[in-house]
Amino acid sequence: MHGFSYRNGSLHCEGIPLSELAEEHGTPLYVYSAGTIVDHFRRLDKALTGVDHEIAFAVKANSNLSVLRLLATQGAGFDIVSGGELFRVIKAGGDPAHCTFAGVGKTRAEIVYALEKGIYSFNVESEEELRYLDKVAGELGVIAPAAVRVNPNVDAHTHKYISTGKSENKFGVDFEAIESLYERAATELPNIKLRGLQMHIGSQLTSIAPFIEAVEKVTPLVKLLKQRHGIEFWSIGGGIGIIYKESLESGSVDWWEKQPEADRPLTIERYGKELVPRLKDLGLKILLEPGRYIVGNAGVLLTQCLYEKKGSAKTFKIVDAGMNDLIRPALYEGHHEIVPLNEPATGERIKVDVVGPICESGDFFCQDRELPNFDPGDYVALMSAGAYGFVMASNYNSRPLPAEVLVESDTATVIRKRQTLEDLIEGEL
Ligand code: LLP
Repeated sequence: MHGFSYRNGSLHCEGIPLSELAEEHGTPLYVYSAGTIVDHFRRLDKALTGVDHEIAFAVKANSNLSVLRLLATQGAGFDIVSGGELFRVIKAGGDPAHCTFAGVGKTRAEIVYALEKGIYSFNVESEEELRYLDKVAGELGVIAPAAVRVNPNVDAHTHKYISTGKSENKFGVDFEAIESLYERAATELPNIKLRGLQMHIGSQLTSIAPFIEAVEKVTPLVKLLKQRHGIEFWSIGGGIGIIYKESLESGSVDWWEKQPEADRPLTIERYGKELVPRLKDLGLKILLEPGRYIVGNAGVLLTQCLYEKKGSAKTFKIVDAGMNDLIRPALYEGHHEIVPLNEPATGERIKVDVVGPICESGDFFCQDRELPNFDPGDYVALMSAGAYGFVMASNYNSRPLPAEVLVESDTATVIRKRQTLEDLIEGEL
């Protein structure tokens, strides 16, 4: 469910017409629904009833301070991948003691910073990193809490760029090598406290099967590590997929009820129903690291049509957002629904490419897609852009970063100002 729907012919985010926000703040503009973010967080929390668990929001999906603050007030922990993300979490009022630090390439400065702030666990991705962590902790005279990321060699059946749990991916330590690594760490690394085990098999998983396969494969291993090393947590990662197609309709209960049971995309209730029984009796705290599920369908990118260009082969709608603002279509062939802010009066559709102003052929939001017609001056929303949207935006082509707005029922707040031209050259000689 999400907070975007047509009311009186105008697409709203909660109680606010999006066209008002576009007029007032300009485009491209990211808009998030606070109600949706909170709803998703609570639904996941509820789905896990019966398991001692903690939801550590994957900050990489959306790191705006106001979004982090909103989640912190709901009781979220945070999964971070850089010193910068830890800095943001602290600035937003998050508690470092509820942060896990993932990533294959942590630097000394990042390790020192995270040790000083007292994070819950370093999720370590190689023996080399674990030894380095031990060394740095020893130099500082502290004990580093750590979990190793196991690569369970499970196929997540997702886009190859966001699949992480196969042996050929750079992530984690091979399943077969974990047991002996924990033995060596326990005897050879005095400044490490082995606190847990971590895994994450990939992102945008829309079926439950890979989650079950990974949990079942790794369960005997966590039991053994608990018995031998007294680990206290198991992070089963993030990766819960969202609906990108028909994302507007899928926000309604009606839509869900109309889908044949077998075709219904993975729901959070199903996720909980399948995993809770498998996890509840392990006597471990279960950590989750969802990013996309919490914020993906809670955000849209508003853009204005600048021109229509009719070529001999195609019709192009040129809009003022580009791949620098939302790179998912260019990078992962990501699908984002494109919806006019004024509800189309008829069901008529035309086949178009919606493209941005960037000097790259890859700068498109859709190709040969049947859409309701819209004209220069009209606004459209790129749906489901709340995760991996703004955070992956860049200044490519010297374009200032868009503004971000957070809507809470009838109140809209600018939570990040649009960059100015001066911002673009800050720090340069
Ligand atoms: N935990 C770890 C260790 C991760 O690497 C990731 C995502 C997550 C949690 C959160 O996964 P989520 O619940 O959001 O699926 N930019 C890509 C997605 C990259 C995901 C990277 N890792 C996209 O736009 O699809």
